[in-house]
Amino acid sequence: MYADRILREELISRIMTSEEAAQLFKDKMVVASSGFTKAGDSKAVLAALAERAKTEPLKITLMTGASLGHGTDGALAEADALSLRLPFQVDPILRKAINKGEVLFIDQHLGETVTLLKSNHFPKINIAVLEASRIEADGSIIPTTSVGNSASFAALADQVIIELNLAVPLSVCGIHDIFSAGEYPNRCEIPIVSVDDRVGRNSIYINPKKIVGVVITNKTDSPAEIAAPDASTSAIARHLVRFFSAEVEQGNLTKSLLPLQAGIGKVANAVLHGFMDGDFENLIMYSEVLQDSTFDLLDSGKMTFASGSSITVSEEYYLKIFHDFEKYKDKIVLRPQEISNAGEVIRRLGIIAINTALECDIYGNVNSTHVAGTNMMNGIGGSGDFARNAYLSVFVTQSSAKGDAISRIVPMVSHVDHTEHDVDVIVTEQGLADLRGLAPRQRAKVIIENCAHPDYKAELLDYYERACVRGGQTPHLLEEAFSWYGRLRENGTMKKFAD
Ligand code: COA
Repeated sequence: MYADRILREELISRIMTSEEAAQLFKDKMVVASSGFTKAGDSKAVLAALAERAKTEPLKITLMTGASLGHGTDGALAEADALSLRLPFQVDPILRKAINKGEVLFIDQHLGETVTLLKSNHFPKINIAVLEASRIEADGSIIPTTSVGNSASFAALADQVIIELNLAVPLSVCGIHDIFSAGEYPNRCEIPIVSVDDRVGRNSIYINPKKIVGVVITNKTDSPAEIAAPDASTSAIARHLVRFFSAEVEQGNLTKSLLPLQAGIGKVANAVLHGFMDGDFENLIMYSEVLQDSTFDLLDSGKMTFASGSSITVSEEYYLKIFHDFEKYKDKIVLRPQEISNAGEVIRRLGIIAINTALECDIYGNVNSTHVAGTNMMNGIGGSGDFARNAYLSVFVTQSSAKGDAISRIVPMVSHVDHTEHDVDVIVTEQGLADLRGLAPRQRAKVIIENCAHPDYKAELLDYYERACVRGGQTPHLLEEAFSWYGRLRENGTMKKFAD
C-alpha cells in the first residue's frame, strides 16, 4: 500500500498509530515540529499528544517553523501541554494563554531560530515530528507543502517521528531545495543569485537510526483564511500600484520591479492581487509564504517564478493547485526558512518587502506584534528578516481599527518591531507616505497628512506641532505620547471626545 511512499523497507516495521507515537513523549521534553503558516505541519501526532495531555501531566517546549494548523496549537494550549512555544503562532486559544502568562512565548525572527539552536542557546531537541510526502531509500524525506525549519530539526533532534501524509500528491517531489550554509565560524555563502536558483538537494536527510516511528495520515493542510479584498484593502493596493508605476516611469525600476516579498494577512494578500492590474510584467517573488495571490499572478502570466518556504492557500486554491500541480513545478521552489529569510540573499537580490503593521507612529516606527504595547498578536514572523535587509521596505495597514475607535497612526508606537531606519514607505487606505530621504520632522508631516484617518489627523498634527515647540531631532511629548492608549482603555476609544 505504501510501496511508492516508503522506499526504505525497514521503516515499514516502524509504522505506528498517532496514539502510539504520542506515548513516546515525556513530560518536559523539547519537541520540534514541521509546519510553516499552517502548511506541512504535524496533523496527527501533536493532536494525539494534546489528547494524552488532557488526562496526565505532560508539558512540552514546542518549536516549529511558524504557525500550526488544525487548531493544534489551541488544542495543546487547552490541554495545558505547552510550557514554552516559539517562534510564531496565530491561534486564538494559545494567544490567550500566552497573554495570561500561562505559556511562555519567544517571538523570534523566523530566519534566526536555527542559528540559535545550532549555537546551543536553546535546549536540545528530544523529538522532532516531521511531515513527509515520501521516504526515500536512504531514509531522507521529501517534505510536503512547507520546508520551514524541518531540515535542521531532523539534523539536531535525538529522535524523529515521520508523519507520512498520503493526501499530498507525489507530484510535490522536486519543488524543495534543501541547503545549509553550515556552521560558524566556517559558514559558506548561500549561492542564490537569482530567485529560481536551486542550490541544494530535494530531500531532507535523516539518519535512519533516529527514526522511531512512521505515522500514516491523510489530512490536508488547514486552509488559510483569506478575506476577499474590500474597499479599504483595495485602496491600499491602488496606492501601491500607483507608486510602483511612478517608480517605473521615473526609471527607478523596470516593469518587472524587483523580487517581491509579501507578508501574511488580508492586506498583504490584497496588495499582491493589486499587481494583476498594473502595467507590470515578468514579476518574480522571493518570499516566505506563497499565498492565493501568488498563484493568481503565476496563472495570469504576470509572475514567472516564486520562491518561498511554504504554500499556504485557501481551501479553494488548495484543490485547484494540487489538481494539476505539475504546471507549477518549474515555477516555484520551497526552501528552508533560514534561506528564504536570509539577510544575505534578501540584500543581494534587492527585495521589495511588503508587510503589515498593527500600528505606525508619526516618525515611521512600526509595531507588528503587540496590541496596545502589551498583548501578543501573532509574532514578528519574517517581517523583520525582510524589512531590515530589503531594497525597499513597505508597511501597509488600515488607518484605523475596531470601527475607527483605534487610530493605527499614533504619536509613538507602544512597541517597536521595525525601527524608522527599516521603513521606507507606509501605506493606508488614505494614501502613501514615501519616507525615503526624509528627516524625522519631514516624515511626520507626510505620514500624518497622507496616511492618518481623518478622525485623528488634527490631533496628530497638534501633537507634532506642540512637540516641535519643545524641540529635538525627533520631537515628542513623552508624558502625552501614550495617553491615547489610556483613553482607549478607559473610554473604549482613542478619540479625545467620544462620539
Ligand atoms: N490595536 C488593536 N487592535 C488592532 C490594531 C491596533 N492598532 N490593529 C489591528 N487590530 C486588530 C484588528 O481590528 C483585527 O481584529 P479583528 O479581527 O477582531 O477585527 C486584528 O487586529 C487583525 O488586524 P487586521 O487589520 O485584520 O490585519 P491583518 O489580518 O492584515 O494582520 C497583522 C495584521 C499585523 C496582525 C499580521 O500581518 C501579522 O501578524 N504580522 C506580523 C507577522 C508578519 O508580518 N509576517 C510577515 C512575514 S510572513
